[in-house]
Formats: sequence, C-alpha cells, structure tokens
Amino acid sequence: MCGIYGYTGYRNAVKIAIEGLKKLEYRGYDSAGIAVLEDGTITFAKQRGKVAELEAVSNTLSNDARVAIAHTRWATHGKPSEINAHPHLDTGNTLALVHNGIIENHNELRSMLQQKGVKFVSDTDTEVVAHLVSHFYSGNLLEAIRESLKLLRGAFSIALIHRDMPGQIVAFAHQAPLAVGLGKDEAFVSSDPNIFSPYTREVLYIGNGEIVVAHKDKIELFNANLERIDRKLETLTSISSDVSKGDFAHYTLKEIFEQPTSLLAAINGHFINEYGTANFQGLTLSSSDLLSVQRILILACGTSWHAGFLATYLLEDLARIPTQVEISSEYRYKNPVVVPGTLVIAISQSGETADTIAAVRELKAKGAWILAICNVESSTLTREADNTLYLHAGPEIGVCSTKAFTSQFVVLALFALQMARMRHLSKIEGQEFLNAINALPNQVAKVLDIAPGIAQLAKKYAHFDNFFFLGRRYMYPTAMEGALKLKEISYINANAYAAGEMKHGPIALISDNCPTVAFCANKQTYEKFISNLMEVKARSGPILAIAEEGCEGLEGIADDVIIVPKTLDELAAIPSSVAAQLFAYYIALCRGADIDQPRNLAKSVTVE
Ligand code: M6R
Repeated sequence: MCGIYGYTGYRNAVKIAIEGLKKLEYRGYDSAGIAVLEDGTITFAKQRGKVAELEAVSNTLSNDARVAIAHTRWATHGKPSEINAHPHLDTGNTLALVHNGIIENHNELRSMLQQKGVKFVSDTDTEVVAHLVSHFYSGNLLEAIRESLKLLRGAFSIALIHRDMPGQIVAFAHQAPLAVGLGKDEAFVSSDPNIFSPYTREVLYIGNGEIVVAHKDKIELFNANLERIDRKLETLTSISSDVSKGDFAHYTLKEIFEQPTSLLAAINGHFINEYGTANFQGLTLSSSDLLSVQRILILACGTSWHAGFLATYLLEDLARIPTQVEISSEYRYKNPVVVPGTLVIAISQSGETADTIAAVRELKAKGAWILAICNVESSTLTREADNTLYLHAGPEIGVCSTKAFTSQFVVLALFALQMARMRHLSKIEGQEFLNAINALPNQVAKVLDIAPGIAQLAKKYAHFDNFFFLGRRYMYPTAMEGALKLKEISYINANAYAAGEMKHGPIALISDNCPTVAFCANKQTYEKFISNLMEVKARSGPILAIAEEGCEGLEGIADDVIIVPKTLDELAAIPSSVAAQLFAYYIALCRGADIDQPRNLAKSVTVE
C-alpha cells in the first residue's frame, strides 16, 4: 500500500518527483525514496519518515537528471526503515523499481533466487521483483518482465528504470491501479492519475498483466505476451486543486469546519421540493429499475462502513427495503449469495480502497450491478462501478475522515428518500424529510460555533486512556464513528457499543477511570437509553452526553453535556457526529498527536 510515481521529460526529475510524492502521501508516509537514471547510472536516496525528510536529503541527487521513479510507503512486509524503503535495486544496480501492492508468493521466490546466489538486503516483498527481473534479463527488459509476470502472484503495480533504457520508465500492473500521463515532451507514471493534472490530463490506464513503456514523447503498451495494444488516451475530467490549510492548524480541523459547505454541495441539485423527493441526475437507473430493487447490499470499510451502517436503518425505516451492510474485506470471502433484485452500493471516499474494490469485482463477476458513492473522480472504484453518485465534498486530506462521512450519509439519506417516495412515503412526509435535510448545513454551523466549549471539555477528558461510546438505533453507528475518530487521531482506546449490549458483558469495564460518551439524540429510544446511562452512573462511570436541544432527564446523570440542534432521529447522526469529531480533534491536540497523519495509518488503504 503505497504511492508510486515516475517522471521522464525535460524538467528537473528530482524536483518533480518530490512534488508528486507530496501529493501521494495519502497512500502512506512511513518512508520515501527516489531513484534517478542519468548517463547510464542509477543513483538513489531513501529516508525513513515523511516525504519532507526525503526532500531534506534529496540534494545528494543530480539536478540534471531527467528520469526518476519515486515512492512513498506504508509498510506491509518489513518495518518502516531506510533499508526497507523503496526504490529497490538488483545486485548490480542495473535497475531500480518502486511497488504498490503485495507479492503474495515472495517467500517462495526469495528462496528460489537465494538458491541461485542472490543476496537480499531488505525484508520487503518488493526486492524479490527487482532480483527476479534482473535474473531474467539478457538484453531485453520486456522479455524479462514477461517471464517475471508468469511467476508473480498478488496485486501490484510497479515502475522501473533500467540503465540500458535511457529516458524510459517501464511499468506493469496486476489488480492494482496504474496510469501513465502524456504531456508535451514529458510523461508521468503513477498509482493516481489525478496528480498529473498540473502537467497533463491525457491519461492511459494500465490493465491487468499489461506492460507500458513511457518515453517523454510517446507511450507504448503491451499485453503479457508482448503484443502491442492500441489504446486511446482518456482525458481526466477532474482537475485536482491545490489545497492549503488556510488559517487552520490542521487539515482535519479545516475539513470539520468545511461541513456546512460540503453538506450543501452534496444536497444541492439533488431534490425536488415540489414533489418532496430526491433526484440524482447522474443516476442511470430508471424508475422501473429502482422500483424493482428488493434488497440492498452496502459494502464499505472504516468510516464509509459506518455511513453504510447508518443507511441500513434509514433504508429499512423510511423506504422499507431490506438492507444489509458488510465490511468489504469480510464479505468477499463469505462466498456470498446474491439474490436477484439486489442493488449493491459500494461506498468509498477515495475510491481506492482495495478491499472494497476487490468485493465489487467479486460481485460484478456474479452479475451484480454496482452503484458507487465516492468523492474522488476517475478513481478505480468509479471506473469499475456501473454508476457513481459523487459527494462533491472537495479533497479530504486529513487521514481521519470527517466531511466525507457526513456527505456520504446525506447522499444516502436523499437516496433513501427517493426510494421511499417511489414506494409508500407521502409527498408531505417527503417534504418534511427534505426540510430536515436542508436544515442540516445550518445546524452543523451551530455545532461548530460551540467548538471552544468542546475544546474546554476535551481538556477535562484528555487524560483518560479508555472510553465507552454508547448509542441506540441511529446513535449506535454514530457512536461507532465517534469512537473511531478518537482511536485513530488520539490513540485512545474507545469501545463503541449499542447501549443495550452493555449489560451483556462490557459493563464490567466501567469505573471512575473509564468515561462514557453518550449519544442521546435518538428520541424513539431516549428513555431506555437514559436507563442504560443510569446503569453506567451507578458504577461510577463519568458521562459526557451529546444531546439535542430541549432534551430532559440528563441532570444528575451526565457530568457534562454538549447540546446540538434538534433534528429528526433519522438525521441526528450528522450534528452529533460533528460534535464527536471536534471532541476527538481537541483531545488529540491536548495529547500532541500527529492529527493529519496519525501513526500507522494511510488515507487510502490500497492493499487487501
Ligand atoms: O476511502 P474509503 O472511504 O474507502 O476509506 C475507508 C477507510 O479506510 C476510512 O474510512 C478510514 O477508516 C478512515 N481513516 C476513518 O477516519
């Protein structure tokens, strides 16, 4: 799971590579490296840590180099270290390569090469590929790659420079994203084509088992048998904007504060007030297709899975369609039965999550029709799904997903409304629901107004090492999402439970040293929830409640209360989640954590 980048052209290749790596850091940031090819010699620099650390040592590389490959890593095989950082070279430094993915049979190949006398220097699966290609090389690099591809198993995209191929980058892929961009007298290779956009928008996507040779003025594409493929370049539709933090201390905080705007962008143009319904112009399913949907299956990971979990309540409650949400990595290996009439929805902010993409491929092979909900145009998921609804949330840079979550849920809420209106929901009921949706951006702005108060509360709770996050009904997935925010940016253990489950075991952990964040905004189950909180209180557990304006009965139970605006139960996840995001952010700030790039994580999880 990593970002790969390559450049050949007329510019300073080191400078371009560093600039590219900075944009790819969302794919991993535990080490980085560059190799350049100049006058038939390969030189390289690697550094543990972020791209900025590599940049600091990159002056050891020639400014005259015009060809480079580069890498930013999220460790899979071998700990984060300089030696395990890419690029990896063969024994004679004849070639260097960078890799995204996993070589599943690396142990077997390593033994085979060791028996032939190859000495390995790193613990990575990637180094195997460098030695393997070198082993098969006898003057024709493409032949060597063809032979290597016959042995390699796993999902990978690889970019390589060879001292006998001046001015060229050779790349190949299997089940992992790889694209080449062709500009004027320059070409680019990467896992993510969006980063080419300052230089070119003309892109070639590389498919399974294909090999591409990027020259500065042309691209040659071959299949695994080295037969030429004639494929037209595609024009990128999105233009990646350069994003800055503005006056905010972190991207995460900026993105939390962008939510009134991102929610508006997700809602606008997608409803018809007059009919009390939603309407997605980009949706290619006809009314009769939508009416024939009998079941919905949602696939996602992490925060996107929480948005999907919330949507299961909503789609069943509002539209009366049986809905199931599955964690992509688990679903894939269940040998699932896809019954006719099932609509599959795949949710992913990045559109690059390997588990979700793999599950989508599995389902497509079984004949399923896939609707993606995604934030990033031209991402792998959007190219593989049959249709995509976009969030239009703008780039989310913080590893911790915030604005994408609220946008995902609001898009799902609109979709649920459309499905409900086509079935049994009356126009008046639809209009009431729409009014509540349209009020959300302002309600979120009100939550943001109380950020200073939440920051004060965070100071009080920042020293605890264990938390419970509790909720019922819509507040249960909301509690799960809140707990994930706290875990990933503060490194605090936070257990999320459906409040009714506490007495079945977890309540044993409650003590005065383990606070509970109580999500109270589900009116239908409020009384039962209060009883659950009393059970926590009776065991001396401190309670911080996130509750709606006008709610009663928390006095004497909650130690502290964050009040959020009142909305429908079905939509209450949004204001409550924003309060929980702020709470997690300010706790992480108190604890001095690396909020935008938390340890061990990556923004896009591109390996299974
Ligand atoms: O890009 P995706 O939405 O597919 O990413 C899924 C998860 O990796 C992601 O939501 C992750 O859990 C976030 N770091 C949570 O904040």
